[in-house]
Amino acid sequence: MKRSTHIPAMLPALPLFLLLLAAPASAGQKSCVELLKSRCLECHYETRICSKLKRRASTRAWNGTIGAMIRHGAKVNKEERKQLASCLGGGDKEVLKFCKQD
Ligand code: HEC
Repeated sequence: MKRSTHIPAMLPALPLFLLLLAAPASAGQKSCVELLKSRCLECHYETRICSKLKRRASTRAWNGTIGAMIRHGAKVNKEERKQLASCLGGGDKEVLKFCKQD
């Protein structure tokens, strides 16, 4: 009876190793859709946002709109405003999909 000790000994560590590899992808910055969901949908449905998206408003126009939303009371910080304006104006794939315009 001959048994190799190396490979079976490593096997239990494999799921943990894969978990560590996958973890950093979910950390860090919020995606645009996550921002939209958490910052923009407390006062109105996404239809308002999606219909403006359909009209292909520019990043500049979106920046102005988000400014108006902040005046209405939206809680969006500087970085989030910049990120949202550029992905809404830039036709971000995830946002288009969220609005079913992909
Ligand atoms: C505190 C409430 C509130 C929040 C939060 C809010 N909005 Fe609004 N939004 C309004 C109101 C009120 C109107 C209608 C009045 C108007 O047009 O200014 C509106 C209208 C709009 C319109 C249509 C008018 C236009 O300028 O084209 C868009 C687009 C829009 N919101 C996008 C957003 C986005 C993007 C966010 C997230 C960054 C957001 N809203 C968050 C209150 C809010």
